[in-house]
Amino acid sequence: MNKVGIIGWPVTHSLSPAMHNAAFAALGLNDWSYELAPIPPDIVGKGLRTLRDEGGFIGVNVTVPLKEKVIPYVKADERARAIGAVNTIDFRDGSGTNTDVLGFMDDLRAYGIEVVGHRVIVLGAGGAARAAVYGLVRAGASVTVVNRTPQRAQVMLADLSLSAGLMNADVKTLDEAAEAGASLIVNCTSVGMWPNVQESPWIKGVPFPKNVVAYDMVYRPERTRFMEQVEQVGGRAVGGLGMLVRQGAAAFTIWTGLSAPVEVMFSAARNALSAR
Ligand code: ATR
Repeated sequence: MNKVGIIGWPVTHSLSPAMHNAAFAALGLNDWSYELAPIPPDIVGKGLRTLRDEGGFIGVNVTVPLKEKVIPYVKADERARAIGAVNTIDFRDGSGTNTDVLGFMDDLRAYGIEVVGHRVIVLGAGGAARAAVYGLVRAGASVTVVNRTPQRAQVMLADLSLSAGLMNADVKTLDEAAEAGASLIVNCTSVGMWPNVQESPWIKGVPFPKNVVAYDMVYRPERTRFMEQVEQVGGRAVGGLGMLVRQGAAAFTIWTGLSAPVEVMFSAARNALSAR
C-alpha cells in the first residue's frame, strides 16, 4: 500500500482525503490511500518519523498549525523557505515544498485572471497572504497589502524581501489602497468563513476600484459576503475552492509522478463540502 495523508492538529475537517482518494480511484491507483494523521504540535518531529518509519507513509500534506513547525525536519525548497511554510512533504527524499502558491497561481490562470504588470490588493498578513504575495510579486504584479494589524504586514514584506528579494510590494490602509486602484483584490484573511458568513474583510462604504476582480481564498461558503459585495458593483468574484483543489493536484503529482485529475478532485471536494 502507498500511503499518503495530512498532518495537522486537528485534521478532522480536511477535504483532502475525499479529494485525493477520488483521484486515486479515477486513475485506478488501487494501492494508494490518503489518510488523516493528527499530530500534536509539540511532538511534530517524532510524529513525522513515526509516519515515515512505522506508518509506511510516502508523504504528507501539512495543515495548521504545523506548516511552519515541520520546516526544521525537512529539506525545504526555496519557495517554502521564502514563505516560511511547508504544506507538502515527500518522505522518499525528505523534501518539503509549498504547493499553496502553485494552487493559487494555477487557479488565477485557470480563470484567466492576469497579474503581470497589474496592481493587486492583498488583504491579510498570515500564512495564506505570504503565499499570495510571493506568487503574485514573482509573477510580475505589484502588490499592496492591507491588514487589520499593519505592523504584521510590514514584517511580512520585510521577511519576503530578505528571503526572496521581493521588492514590488507595500502596505497601505484600505481606503488608500482602494483609492490607488487595483485590477485584483485577494482575500487572504479568514473573515467571512463559515460560520461567520455575514462578515467581510472589505469595510462597507469603501468604494471598490472599477472593473475589479475579487478572489476569496475562503471556500466555505462557496459564495462569500465579500464576493457578493464585489458582484453588486458589477465586478467579478471567484471563490477559493479551485486553489484548494489545485494545491492538492500539485501534491498528487509530487507523490505519484502523474498529472492529477483536477475535475475529479473538484467534484469530490465540492461533494465533501456540501455534506458538511
Ligand atoms: P493564515 O495562516 O490562514 O493566513 P493567520 O496567520 O491566522 O492565518 O492570519 C489570519 C489573517 O486574517 C490575518 O491577516 C488576520 O489579521 P491580523 O494580522 O490583524 O490578526 C486576519 N484576520 C483574522 N480575523 C480578522 C478580523 N476579524 N478582522 C480583520 N482581519 C482578520
